[in-house]
Amino acid sequence: MIQFVKKSCCILFFVLLICCVSIHSKTLKPDEPCKRIVLYYHDILFNGTDLANATSVKITNDTQFGFHFGMMVVFDDPMTKDGNLNSPPAARAQGFYFYDKKDTFNAWFAYTLIFNSTEYKGTLNIMGADPLPEKTRDLSVVGGTGDFFMARGIATFRTEDAQGDYYFRLQMDIKLYECYKT
Ligand SMILES: *[C@@H]1O[C@H](CO)[C@@H](O)[C@H](O)[C@H]1NC(C)=O
Ligand SMILES: *[C@@H]1O[C@H](CO)[C@@H](O)[C@H](O)[C@H]1NC(C)=O
Ligand SMILES: *[C@@H]1O[C@H](CO)[C@@H](O)[C@H](O)[C@H]1NC(C)=O
Ligand SMILES: *[C@@H]1O[C@H](CO)[C@@H](O)[C@H](O)[C@H]1NC(C)=O
Repeated sequence: MIQFVKKSCCILFFVLLICCVSIHSKTLKPDEPCKRIVLYYHDILFNGTDLANATSVKITNDTQFGFHFGMMVVFDDPMTKDGNLNSPPAARAQGFYFYDKKDTFNAWFAYTLIFNSTEYKGTLNIMGADPLPEKTRDLSVVGGTGDFFMARGIATFRTEDAQGDYYFRLQMDIKLYECYKT
């Protein structure tokens, strides 16, 4: 009798486990995020004189390797809801990127999106590789605070404009798959 109870407990446990795993993976359909925010990132690299206008600065130079390999930039960039640099910022992106490939343009980003508006208060932390020749690049949203408490997801980059090294604009399509606040 005890053997039988033990066995059925075991079976019940595994059935529950399988149910939980399948329910959990069902909530992670790529085309069904629990929250989606599309913002535009504007990076104006300091050119040596435009202190008032620039939003980012080189803190290490590029090297003889080419493709800016080794160059690192720290930024405090405005994020707007449309592609217009002069639109009121909906958030700021604060962090850095550096170039890390010898034979093509390839960057690595780590930054925090800081929201402090009537719509959202909180942060999202994003990091990952940015292989520039690709039309779209996916980076990880590794966490969040405030209205984005414990959030996780994917930020898809798309380059919209690049004027030499001194200005570029990225569309960031942020899809969250874990949302604990509505
Ligand atoms: C830097 O940018 C400002 C504003 O766009 C421009 O007036 C200035 O001539 C530029 N300086 C250099 C050294 O390119
Ligand atoms: C980068 O190199 C330029 C030109 O050689 C120099 O003027 C500048 O100070 C260097 N910047 C840094 C951060 O080392
Ligand atoms: C957020 O905005 C409010 C109102 O403008 C301001 O008082 C507060 O200092 C801001 N907080 C941060 C962290 O920037
Ligand atoms: C600031 O930089 C942007 C991007 O390069 C440029 O379009 C704009 O004219 C600059 N504004 C000023 C006042 O220099």
